[in-house]
Amino acid sequence: MDSPIVAHLFRQLFRHRPRGCQGLRNGLARSSHRQPTRGLATRPSIDRGMKTNESRWQQRTHILPEDRREEFAEYPYISLQELKTRTERPRREAVIFSPGEPFDFNSMRDELEFQAELGRRYTEFEDLLDERDGESPTRQLWHTPTELFRPHYGEAIARYLVSNYRLTTYPYDDLLIFEMGAGRGTLMLNILDYIRAADPQVYARTKFNIIEISSSLAALQSQHLLSTAESRGHADKVEIVNRSIFDWDRYVPSPCFFLAMEVFDNFSHDGIRYDVLTEEPLQGHVLIDGDGDFYEFYVHELDPLAARFFRVRHAATGGNYPKPYPSNPLLRYLSTKMPFAANLSEAEFIPTRLMQFFDVLEKYFPAHRLLTSDFDSLPQAIKGLNAPVVQTRFQRKMVPVTTPLVHQGYFDILFPTDFHITEAIYRAITGKLTRVMSHGDFMRRWAYVEDTETRSGENPLLSHYRNASVMVTV
Ligand SMILES: C[S@@+](CC[C@H](N)C(=O)[O-])C[C@H]1O[C@@H](n2cnc3c(N)ncnc32)[C@H](O)[C@@H]1O
Repeated sequence: MDSPIVAHLFRQLFRHRPRGCQGLRNGLARSSHRQPTRGLATRPSIDRGMKTNESRWQQRTHILPEDRREEFAEYPYISLQELKTRTERPRREAVIFSPGEPFDFNSMRDELEFQAELGRRYTEFEDLLDERDGESPTRQLWHTPTELFRPHYGEAIARYLVSNYRLTTYPYDDLLIFEMGAGRGTLMLNILDYIRAADPQVYARTKFNIIEISSSLAALQSQHLLSTAESRGHADKVEIVNRSIFDWDRYVPSPCFFLAMEVFDNFSHDGIRYDVLTEEPLQGHVLIDGDGDFYEFYVHELDPLAARFFRVRHAATGGNYPKPYPSNPLLRYLSTKMPFAANLSEAEFIPTRLMQFFDVLEKYFPAHRLLTSDFDSLPQAIKGLNAPVVQTRFQRKMVPVTTPLVHQGYFDILFPTDFHITEAIYRAITGKLTRVMSHGDFMRRWAYVEDTETRSGENPLLSHYRNASVMVTV
């Protein structure tokens, strides 16, 4: 169960009930909560004996839930496409932390000193935001290796790009780079700075395109590009397209590199549970009632996208992938005979949106080479296979919770990537070959690791992000 701080937070959130709400149903977790969606009620649901005080919120349990199927059958079904057009609940976005000046790792004593300095810069960054935008007790803050290890992280990636370009299509084609989800634009600037300084011939042939879903981040990227004389020098090489990758419609026949750093964890997933006896998958749905309470239920009819995911995964892996129930039929049977045994398995969260991203690559970027990095596992994830971390920040403290059914717009839902399955699916869809390695191994190969070493010999570039992997097209 969630902690008292979560109870306090929920009470605060529910004290302010948004206007014009209506009950709705939608596919479980099919809305990326980093671009949060909403849907609330005009019609209060049947009062279930609660007092009308400042908040009706109370902690949910799975013990003997009420049967409200008849009431629920009347609710309208809302798809992802319809949710995208809504502006309430808040479509607030997380802020990406920037440490300001790059860290001087060589002058630091050890990792502990780096941690302390990082903490100090975090506080300074939030103080500045509070000063500029007013206090925001539920502000979400992300940090990424691009920002923490700038410019070294970007330089490592630039070395990879230049070497591979020189070994393959140089001088017949330009060095064409696409970056999906560029955050503050830091990676783009670090890569271009490096190529300009290290290889002017290649720099003359470089073009950099950003595809960014968030309009505020796209604006920040342009602002950073034009902020100094040095960065303005790159301006004629850069195009920023403010669009979701899923709305991309331009065919790019030329060879190009496609970067996706820390974006897969944003992509929404479908929630699935299995009938433990028959192994049949059931599609998860979420119903939001007139009080804004969430209910999860499972139906036999699979969403066509989820059904395709299962077919592609099966073909790509030869049926060899993890399952959220025992593979031995006897164990499965026995598990249903335990007292209070559930008839369905634990939840599995399948990366349907990631599969659609590979469709976009295959359709519009036939000659691409992908370079992507993301978390391969996440501590404090909720229960289930490939399950996300669901967290919010309250008064500058990270608060993880135990369910994905949370107040829209206030929580960050962050999925791990199973790189073995992802690699197999990518190969099946694009017909290309890949290599997967740890973040540390990639950095040992392409970064000048002495730049990020502390005096004790500890190296935060290698010791942080141990739970991240890198996948490249070969
Ligand atoms: C965690 S941030 C990572 C930012 C940056 N790559 C970094 O590592 O610092 C995720 C980025 O992906 C963007 N994003 C999420 N979904 C996207 C989509 N469907 N199309 C394009 N960009 C997307 C977000 O707006 C954000 O810029």
